[in-house]
Amino acid sequence: MFLHGTSKIDGQGHLEIGGVDTVKLAKEFGTPLYVYDVALIRERARQFKDTFKQHGVKAQVAYASKAFSTMAMVQLVQEEGLSLDVVSGGELYTALAAGFPREKIHFHGNNKSKAELEMAIREGIGCIVVDNFYEIELLKELGDVYQKKIPVLLRITPGIEAHTHDYILTGQEDSKFGFDLQNGQAEQAVRQTFNMPQFDLLGVHCHIGSQIFETAGFIMATQKIFEKLKEWKEKMNFFPKVLNLGGGFGIRYTNEDDPIPVSQYVNVIIEEVKKQTEAMNIGIPEIWIEPGRSLVGDAGTTLYSIGSRKNVPNIREYVSVDGGMNDNIRPALYQAKYEAALANRMNDEVDEEVSIAGKCCESGDMLIWDLPLPNPQPKDILAVFCTGAYGYSMASHYNRIPKPAVVFVEDGEAQLVVKRETYEDLIKNDLPFKAKVKN
Ligand SMILES: Cc1ncc(COP(=O)(O)O)c(C=O)c1O
Repeated sequence: MFLHGTSKIDGQGHLEIGGVDTVKLAKEFGTPLYVYDVALIRERARQFKDTFKQHGVKAQVAYASKAFSTMAMVQLVQEEGLSLDVVSGGELYTALAAGFPREKIHFHGNNKSKAELEMAIREGIGCIVVDNFYEIELLKELGDVYQKKIPVLLRITPGIEAHTHDYILTGQEDSKFGFDLQNGQAEQAVRQTFNMPQFDLLGVHCHIGSQIFETAGFIMATQKIFEKLKEWKEKMNFFPKVLNLGGGFGIRYTNEDDPIPVSQYVNVIIEEVKKQTEAMNIGIPEIWIEPGRSLVGDAGTTLYSIGSRKNVPNIREYVSVDGGMNDNIRPALYQAKYEAALANRMNDEVDEEVSIAGKCCESGDMLIWDLPLPNPQPKDILAVFCTGAYGYSMASHYNRIPKPAVVFVEDGEAQLVVKRETYEDLIKNDLPFKAKVKN
């Protein structure tokens, strides 16, 4: 078992995170419970920022809030001096309500509505990452209406798709996102926005994938982009002030994963951008990145209470918990793997292999297959590690199960940052049926 961040085993054999006994957390706040190790989030944020600082490169590290967006998280991001990437009116609203500095917010999305774009423009956010020609037209209209020069980046698809250990050169990329670099769409988008009265074209953006463990994909994407930047410099005298290379830096979910330190991705990106700009004899642009998972993924642990067990003789032992695909869809959605342990019996000898079932009415609601555990019993607390990214943010009300609470732990203190939903919360927007037949 691998313990992340400040996690350790205390004198009672309990899992401790941020100096707080998780068994006590489960008692005080109930289960399922999302627990975040604040010190680990801070450490990662600083690793990203410090690496840019060491190179003396102007940069923005924007937390991709789709990974986990709540007011408290946004405020923690602000405290650590990062920027913020949002992808919807809801994430933007959360950021604004949390008091996040507007000029450090970047707005993504392949189908932002006119209302969402208006909200972003009215609030004067840092930049809009323009995804397609429809959005260019909408923004032109809004630029005229609001008499504002809208700061934008253009999202381009460089024809490289990277996932974990593989990266594929796709040429013409089959993606719903962005302007294709190879087929001329990206150049057309530059022509439609550069030196136009409605736009302040800051630069270009790309995001090549997720849970990436190799640096080669980032190098290749940078090279592809620079091939075009050279052309655009000659043809249009356009060179970006900002080059945003997205997120996707991998983390360790299980011992099958072997991530490299975040500083290594940043070093490689900076070195490649320097190499390319030196060859062009031009100054280095600001480099922006957008880590999501690598800031919060392994800082999150979900605590569950163990309930029923079912033995299928000679086949499997099912152990059910009080949550499942509604608080963590990743195993059901893309067979994501996790490690887990009994938080109240961390030192007990592992003597069984069980499969952890969620409580939803779906056979596919399995959290972990074939997990070695010390004979789990009802009321034991199961801690599933590395659930900090795309867990809470993808949570649903399937089976009308209320969403769990979220607790931040740091320096021996726990603070509730999202209250557990109640049954009343579940029906708060429901309206009664108006019966047609009156008795
Ligand atoms: C444009 C963009 N930036 C950043 C991210 C964050 O990726 P990750 O959480 O893998 O770092 C994503 C994830 O989908 C994304 O689409």
